[in-house]
Amino acid sequence: MESDVRIPDHVPAERVVHFDFRNDEAIRHDPYKYIADLKNCPDIFFSPDLGGYWVIRPSEAIAEVFTDHERFTATSLAIPKRDASIVLIPNNFDPPRHTAYRKAMANNLFSPRALATIDPDTRDFARQLFDHFTPGKCEFVSEFAYKLPIDIFLNLMGADLSLRDQCLSWIKLIFRGRSAEETGQGFIEAYAWVTTWLKEQLADPSRNKGSMFQALLRMKIDDKQPDFEDMRSMTLMLFSGGLDTITSQMTHIMHFLAESPAHRQRLIDHPEDIPVALEEMLRRFGISFIGRSVAKDHVFYGVQMKKGDVVCAGTPIAGLDADQWDNPLEVDFDRGGRRKVKHLGFGAGPHLCIGAYLARKQLTVMLEELLPRMPNLRIAKDTVIENQAGATMMLKALPLEWDVTD
Ligand code: HEM
Repeated sequence: MESDVRIPDHVPAERVVHFDFRNDEAIRHDPYKYIADLKNCPDIFFSPDLGGYWVIRPSEAIAEVFTDHERFTATSLAIPKRDASIVLIPNNFDPPRHTAYRKAMANNLFSPRALATIDPDTRDFARQLFDHFTPGKCEFVSEFAYKLPIDIFLNLMGADLSLRDQCLSWIKLIFRGRSAEETGQGFIEAYAWVTTWLKEQLADPSRNKGSMFQALLRMKIDDKQPDFEDMRSMTLMLFSGGLDTITSQMTHIMHFLAESPAHRQRLIDHPEDIPVALEEMLRRFGISFIGRSVAKDHVFYGVQMKKGDVVCAGTPIAGLDADQWDNPLEVDFDRGGRRKVKHLGFGAGPHLCIGAYLARKQLTVMLEELLPRMPNLRIAKDTVIENQAGATMMLKALPLEWDVTD
C-alpha cells in the first residue's frame, strides 16, 4: 500500500524504501522470506508507510534502539503513532521511572511464588484442549494457540474462564485492528472491562485466589502500594502483552514443525533438546514490530534522526540479519552447539520481556505435550496458509492433521 506521507527534509532520498509490515501483500504470504529480503535495502531506511518511520536492519542497532532510552523513548510504542492516552506500565515508562515498577512487577507478579503451579497448570490446560480436538485434526490457531495463553492468564488473575471469548475479541481488535480506530476501540473496551473487574476484586480481595492478582495486592513501589490507576495499567499491560504474543509465536513454530518431520522427530525423541531448539525457533520466527520515538536529535549509524521520528525495532528483522546469522532462514537446532542462541525475540535492555519465563513455559509445554500425541503431523491438504500482519505476526489459520492410533 503506497502512502503519501511527506518525507521529512532530513531523510535522504536514497534511504526511502516502502515497507508496510501491516499491509504489504508479500507479508501475508511468506513473511519471513520477505523480511529476509530486506538485506538488499540500506541498513537504516525510512518507510513512508504507516505515518512514516525508520526501519533498522542490523541486529546490533536494533538492540541499541531497545536499550538506549536516552535516544529512543518508549513513551510511544505504536506504529503508526497512536494517541497515548492509555499508558501501559511499565512498558511506556523510561528509566529511572520505569525501574521501580519493573522491579516490583518482576519480584511479585513473576516471582516463583506467583508462578508456583504454572508447570502443572499449563500441562493440564494443554491436555484439556487436546482432548477437545476432533481425533486426528484441529484448527490449531483457534482451538489451541488462542485458548491456552488466555486460559493461563485468566487463571493467574483469578478471573472466570468464561470471559475467554470476550478477551479474545478485544485482543483481536488491539492487535489485528484494520485501522487506528479499531485498535483504539479494542483498548477502550479492554480498559473498561479491566476497570470494572478490578473494582469488583478490590471490593473483596480475599475472594480472588489468583496468584498474580494476590501478587498485585502485595506489591510495593517505592514502599507504597500502587494506587488503582497503576494497578489497572499493569493489568492491562499483562493482558495486552501476554496473550497475542504467545499465540502468534505458537502459530509460526507449529507451522514450521508440521512441515519439518526431521525437526519434529528430534524433539519427540530428545525432549531434552527442547530448550536449545526453542531459542533457535524464537530467533527464526520473531513476531514483534515495536516502536520507539526519537528522544533527541542525533546521528545513528551515520543517519540523522530528529526528535519525534518514529523508529521500528523489529524482532523478525533482527532474527534474520544475514550479517549476524549464517543462512538465517535455516532452522538449525545445533546453531549454538549445546548453547542457546542469543536472540532479540524478547527485546533487550530495560524492557526485556518480563513474561519470557511464562512464554517459554507455554511454548515448551506445547512442544512436549502436543508433538508426541500427533504422529505424522501435517498441514491439512489444499490449505493456503496466510499470515496476519500487525504489531505482531500471526497465522490466520493452521488446519493440522495427524494419524490416530489406538
Ligand atoms: C512469545 C511470547 C512473547 C514475546 C515474543 C514477547 C515479546 C516482548 C518484547 C519484544 C518486549 C520488549 C518491548 C519493548 O522493548 O518495548 C516485551 C516486553 C514485555 N512483555 Fe513480552 N513477549 C511475550 C510474552 C509475554 C508474556 C506472557 C507477558 C506477561 C504475561 C509479557 C509481558 C511483557 C511486559 C509487561 C513487557 C514490558 C516490560 C517492560 O517494559 O519492562 N510478554 N515482550
